[in-house]
Amino acid sequence: SDYNTNKRRRPSDERQHRAAETLSAHRQLYERHFPLYKQPVEVGCFSLDSHRSFYNDQRRLRYYVQPRKSPDLNLRDGYTSRFVKRDESVKEKLDHVLKWILANRDKIQSRDHTPSSGALGVDFVTWRGHLTKVLTTPYETQEGWMLAASKFRGTIYISEVETETARVNRETRSERQEEMMYWGYKFEQYICADDVDGTPDPGGVVNTNEAFCTVVQTRLADHKLLFSGEVDCRVRDPDAPAAPGCYVELKTSAEICTPKQRSNFHRNKLLKWWAQSFLPGVPQIVAGFRDHDGIVVSVETFQTSKISQLIKNEYNCWKPTVCMNFCNDFLSFVKSVVKEDDPRLVYLFTWDPHRDVTFTVHRDSQYTFLPEWYIKDTRS
Ligand code: A3P
Ligand code: MG
Ligand code: MG
Repeated sequence: SDYNTNKRRRPSDERQHRAAETLSAHRQLYERHFPLYKQPVEVGCFSLDSHRSFYNDQRRLRYYVQPRKSPDLNLRDGYTSRFVKRDESVKEKLDHVLKWILANRDKIQSRDHTPSSGALGVDFVTWRGHLTKVLTTPYETQEGWMLAASKFRGTIYISEVETETARVNRETRSERQEEMMYWGYKFEQYICADDVDGTPDPGGVVNTNEAFCTVVQTRLADHKLLFSGEVDCRVRDPDAPAAPGCYVELKTSAEICTPKQRSNFHRNKLLKWWAQSFLPGVPQIVAGFRDHDGIVVSVETFQTSKISQLIKNEYNCWKPTVCMNFCNDFLSFVKSVVKEDDPRLVYLFTWDPHRDVTFTVHRDSQYTFLPEWYIKDTRS
């Protein structure tokens, strides 16, 4: 039942109505004016507890407690004794986002007066992280991706499929790599409090099952988007801007000692950091710079909106407009391909570095990702 659409032959009279079969990711093709990207609006949130159970509330939202400028935080502390790691072999697909939708249909803003029965009134539902990968594609040289898409009641759902390469990398990480993945979460623990008037507890357990996620709606050109993304914390000030304006993204990175390290930081890290926070409208990123032994030696705040200015001195550097135009064209490509409204049909979009985006079509396969409990729910 799986077939590669690139091998398809169709009568010539149909050719002009046929969707393009591939999409180029060459950055030069996307150097156009910046497309419309509406200010993202938070329409809800949810939390995942230490067992990965879903709660339709903000119970896992944490509060940012500003650390000293040169804080001396040991990110290795607790790795062997106070660390509970999420099982990355469990693929949750869009399940948590879908649970949020079932519980909050009335909160989804639709400019159409009444979307047709059962329709959400949005074009795409996905995770922010999937869109981050799409945004950075024109500049990515290392890792490809696979994104599964299905249309259900007029909305296209996009869910990532782990590539073979990513699976092998995940299953063969070195002990050093495994430990360094913990460092980012440990940094969060040092500078986040559970309560608005609380203080961080560096002696507690780091449990990466726990998460707070925002759900936002926005529009990229003529694509109406609803997506969710994990949020690290918010500022404590109760008078701060409404979400997502009060949110803070936390990051760690190797300390910068040479011009070459600074250049690499600008070219690689800041691209990923910008894409991740720009999409949901998170205005600031607090970065902890650490040495080789996992000691945070300095902390710096980046305004997401100023990152594109920061990198302008880099020769031949990445451009936000290329990222957004590629994403716009990718979503148009997906819309032109994903025509059949059937949750059991999956269009699998694949991209590898230095290649075009291609797709294959699969019915009732291992790739089907919209669960029965979602498609059987008849509320509208
Ligand atoms: P750092 O990004 O500070 O290294 P996020 O920053 O997106 O909130 O993710 C929190 C932490 O999860 C990261 O902190 C890192 O430790 C880990 N992490 C997230 N995505 C990862 C990935 N693709 N590979 C390795 N580690 C990852
Ligand atoms: Mg996070
Ligand atoms: Mg973070």
